Amino acid sequence: MTSRAARAGVTALGAYAPPKVITNSDLEKVLDTSDEWIRTRTGIRKRHVAADNEFTSDLAVRSVEDLVARHGEGALDGVEFVIVATNTPDALFPATAALVQDHFGLKAGAFDLLAACPGWIYALSVAKAYVESGQYRKVLTIGAEALTKVLDWEDRSTAVLFGDGAGASVVEAVPEPYGLKSIVLGVDGGGAHHLHKRATGCCLPNGEPLSDTLYMNGREVFKFAVRVMHTSTVEAVEKAELSNSDISLLVPHQANSRIIEAARELLGLSQERVVVTVDEYGNNSTASIPLALKHALDEGRVEAGDHLLLVSFGAGLTWGASVLTWGGA
Ligand code: UT7
Repeated sequence: MTSRAARAGVTALGAYAPPKVITNSDLEKVLDTSDEWIRTRTGIRKRHVAADNEFTSDLAVRSVEDLVARHGEGALDGVEFVIVATNTPDALFPATAALVQDHFGLKAGAFDLLAACPGWIYALSVAKAYVESGQYRKVLTIGAEALTKVLDWEDRSTAVLFGDGAGASVVEAVPEPYGLKSIVLGVDGGGAHHLHKRATGCCLPNGEPLSDTLYMNGREVFKFAVRVMHTSTVEAVEKAELSNSDISLLVPHQANSRIIEAARELLGLSQERVVVTVDEYGNNSTASIPLALKHALDEGRVEAGDHLLLVSFGAGLTWGASVLTWGGA
């Protein structure tokens, strides 16, 4: 009889947000917007912003330092691979993950992963496959963003929404009943024109020019988000052979409190079973779920054996959801 390979899970977590903060009232002074509009339409009160000389790799390194501070010096021992999920790499190449590898002197392979806001869930999926196939035993999986550097600060429809930050996790084999029980990933490239930024290309397949700064059709992304937050979480819970009543905590992508509220209602979860940090950080894309999870851990809202439902959506248009049974370190 062949036994099932050990399941992969998250055994350590850290996160970082830069100390500089821009509040809604700061934005009122430079944009045709108001604290009231931003709060009621998005739930955001402030966002953390990287310093001029601080880039995605710096934020990623800080999140790993936080992980080490929480879990001890040995937390990085034996890391064999580094993945940085980001939309705002320091450079097109080399990978931001290579800079993190070098900073910590890891003997590891490394690459960046681009799947928009669900990037950290995509990275967990790759790490899970590496660990469960036996290819690598321990994977450092990071979501990091310096989004405020790619915003058009004169565009009120996007400038008020985003912030910077990073979250890091260690993925390795965990004993039953812990670990990543299900992963659901998807994309609808037909929605590419709703949310984009130019790198080296010039235009979308339909000839629409790409934006030098972040462009978003917020209304279309909103409708898409409410739909896929529901469908992908239902699928992830089913795939994990659980039901909604088994879910201890929904840890969603932090883009807009109205989107989170819609997802919560559709899943029939009470408010205490949802983590909301968008008021503090705004939308920091791939970093938003690990940052939110760190808050929940610090508040004592997560215990070993809890089933956490992670879900995100973003440019692509992509989505990702996962059931993670916490613990097993
Ligand atoms: O991580 C994934 C990335 N993105 C998202 O998750 C965003 C998803 N979308 C959203 O969160 C929402 O669509 C927004 C917050 C971006 C916008 O909220 P909305 O309720 O969909 O507003 P809207 O775009 O329909 O705009 C309503 C009005 C417009 O004015 P008119 O045309 O009604 O006169 C906008 O020009 O609000 C105006 N508006 C603003 N007013 C004050 C747009 N941005 C602002 C602003 N301040 N910052």
